[in-house]
Amino acid sequence: MDQLEKLVSQAIADFEAARDANSLEQAKAQYLGKSGSLSELLKGLGKMEPEARREAGAAINRAKAAVEQALEARRDALRQAALEAQLAAEALDVTLPGRGRGHGGLHPVTRTLERIEQLFASIGFAVADGPEIESDWYNFTALNTPENHPARSMHDTFYLQDADKVLLRTHTSPVQVRYMHQHVERYKDLATMPEIRIIAPGRVYRVDYDATHSPMFHQIEGLWVGERVSFVDLKGVVAEFLRRFFETDELQLRFRPSFFPFTEPSAEIDFAFMSGPNKGKWLEIAGCGVVHPNVLRHGGIDPERYTGFAFGMGLDRLTMLRYGVDDLRLFFENDLRFLSQFR
Ligand code: DAH
Repeated sequence: MDQLEKLVSQAIADFEAARDANSLEQAKAQYLGKSGSLSELLKGLGKMEPEARREAGAAINRAKAAVEQALEARRDALRQAALEAQLAAEALDVTLPGRGRGHGGLHPVTRTLERIEQLFASIGFAVADGPEIESDWYNFTALNTPENHPARSMHDTFYLQDADKVLLRTHTSPVQVRYMHQHVERYKDLATMPEIRIIAPGRVYRVDYDATHSPMFHQIEGLWVGERVSFVDLKGVVAEFLRRFFETDELQLRFRPSFFPFTEPSAEIDFAFMSGPNKGKWLEIAGCGVVHPNVLRHGGIDPERYTGFAFGMGLDRLTMLRYGVDDLRLFFENDLRFLSQFR
């Protein structure tokens, strides 16, 4: 049965030629499919004499088994080749260094702020907030600094065009009057109104830029309004705060007479370390004073009955002193070599 042998070797050659599973299945159909050549031969057996049929049948079945075996072998080979190709494509170099995980951290100014909020919370101060885009009225007029007042010239800032008297606030002091309004609104009955005791931290803006000034910087406003709140309380609070903030009692404090339109009397607060690298150097850290009656009046609070004190501290300055940083600009350049030292 020469013809069958030829057929088997042709099938094997066709299977070998198939480059992928799809073409292999097509080649298979030619031989083993419903009208494939082997199936046709088997159909032809019916017309044969019994004797010849037995012999031919056995031969065809052997050929069929050979073709099936070749098919199975080729299938295995193709599957193996596909797997190897996939493994090669997904090769993993286990000798490469790992990617690692970056550790984030809080910005030094944020750290300082959180610390200060905690210290003030422990003596009964809540945290208040105000907008950075502020009205001229809250930023100046409400703070007893009417238009054309010379004190405005110390606060050159960024005005928003086309907006009616809107600017980037030059200090956190506008939160004083904003908060008084909220407080009065909340406790309608002024006779039973609780004291106002807040700090208001945030960003402020001025047209300035050098090693100790940046166009955006941070302040913390403090305000305590109540019956019989006086300069003595201010001194006590500030002294206590500084001792706890710098974790030392070795501090000298100085209230230097000054002027702010929204306080009377007004002072600058200087302090000096009595030991350490900055020993004996007076460092200016805040403006302060007794809240001016006009400011209380603008806030809806009766200045005959209530008094208060206020202060405005430089948060960046406090951070520089605490961590020994000598250039303010480092805080805002976002250089990770600098920032990661505070993690
Ligand atoms: N707002 C002032 C400034 O930025 C600082 C200041 C002074 C705030 C006296 C106060 C204060 O609350 O009483 O220059």
